Amino acid sequence: MATKEFPLVPESVTPVKTKYRTICTQIPVPESIKLLEKLRDLEPRSMGGQPPVIWDHGEDCTISDPYGNKWLDFSAGVLVTSAGHGRPEIVKAIQEMAGRGMYHAYCFATEIRVKLIEKLTRMLPAPLKRVFLLTTGSEATECCIKLARTRGLQIGGAKKNVFITFENAFHGRTMGSQLAGGCPALKSWIGGEDPRFVQVPFPDGFRQKDISFGIFEEALAEKGVNPDNLCGVMSETYQGCNAALMPKEYAQSLRKWCDKTKAVLIFDEIQAGFGRTGKLFGFMHYGIVPDLVACGKGISGGMPIAAVLGTEELMNMYGPGEMTSTHSANPICAAAALANLEVIEKEGLVENAAKLEPVLAEGCRRITEAGKGRIGHWAVIGLVGALQFTKQRTSEPDPEPAWEMVRQAVQKGVMLFAPVGVGGCAIKINPPLTINEEALREGLSVLEEVAASL
Ligand SMILES: Cc1ncc(COP(=O)(O)O)c(C=O)c1O
Repeated sequence: MATKEFPLVPESVTPVKTKYRTICTQIPVPESIKLLEKLRDLEPRSMGGQPPVIWDHGEDCTISDPYGNKWLDFSAGVLVTSAGHGRPEIVKAIQEMAGRGMYHAYCFATEIRVKLIEKLTRMLPAPLKRVFLLTTGSEATECCIKLARTRGLQIGGAKKNVFITFENAFHGRTMGSQLAGGCPALKSWIGGEDPRFVQVPFPDGFRQKDISFGIFEEALAEKGVNPDNLCGVMSETYQGCNAALMPKEYAQSLRKWCDKTKAVLIFDEIQAGFGRTGKLFGFMHYGIVPDLVACGKGISGGMPIAAVLGTEELMNMYGPGEMTSTHSANPICAAAALANLEVIEKEGLVENAAKLEPVLAEGCRRITEAGKGRIGHWAVIGLVGALQFTKQRTSEPDPEPAWEMVRQAVQKGVMLFAPVGVGGCAIKINPPLTINEEALREGLSVLEEVAASL
């Protein structure tokens, strides 16, 4: 579903001045309108839809424009800047690498690639062992699909090619990743359903009330899928449009089921990985290990780098030169990622996400209460929360108040990205993992005020 554009009409708003927020102009800022209009004129419409703010500089949990306004950032870009904006260690790593003239190396070896791969492999539980670096999350999920399909062909022949994902899932915007997603509208633009990509309900307890594993098997039977024909099953560790994990027992049954049917089990950790859920990887909540993991976003804290983590057997199926990418392990991105992972470890950011989870949960509960029935569901895990606006007492999406909440929050100095998820009804709250309790509480109380005013 397309997001509604925010109007480029300056509005007078109440000035704000706190440690984390400054709003001292009309919003959108009158001087910014020409620049924003230029983008609307020259880019595809699809690039629009975000609040009309010019991002100019960032520091920790705040983002500022060039006109004196400062926002408490509840977006982390889009769950990327886990170590905060303008993190000195990451800036230094980028500068040092660029200063050496080392901003590209294709697949030629570099010392920084060795260091990053070593760091990542040390984080992996067995049998995950090998790391393949890419550039975007979509590339990583697409690579997982490809590996599962190749595996299926090798062990079961041409018919073992059905790839299972979940309804309402998001795995990216390249062709394969979009076909694997669970949004029918996105598929319809690229030729409709493909019988080799099949979706089953995600056990979220909200849109899918029965959360037992039996539903997985029933859905396959209903769709006429022979379990022997499955090559892989991929799920976001928590669904991006929500912030709820699948039940632990469900995940454990899924692991056993994949072992039995020889389907590759993949978790898309592009949002969840590197601490967002209060554990290093989201799958660690389930007490199982998948065969492949797709990572992106928070791996580097900002620079475009992604990774597939996998077992020896799967990652070594292709020969030398058969699975590469021009920008794999770009030295500047790799240096940023290493610095980011060191900050996450050194500052205990995974632990900070776990520690602040109750504060975020309490805030979401209060916002929901203030919303007087407009928010049909909320969920929190670690430092990610989702509020789904629905028509009163149903699960039918209600995008209008969600959009209005973003608009008003931004006018009050709290940065949110535009609503996402089913029917564009979900507000996501996911600040940098460096946020402290004071800042988190301040932003949540602003959202509570906005919810009450809708
Ligand atoms: C769960 C998930 N998978 C995949 C992607 C795609 O990542 P990218 O936009 O880096 O291609 C995203 C991006 O939002 C995501 O949230």
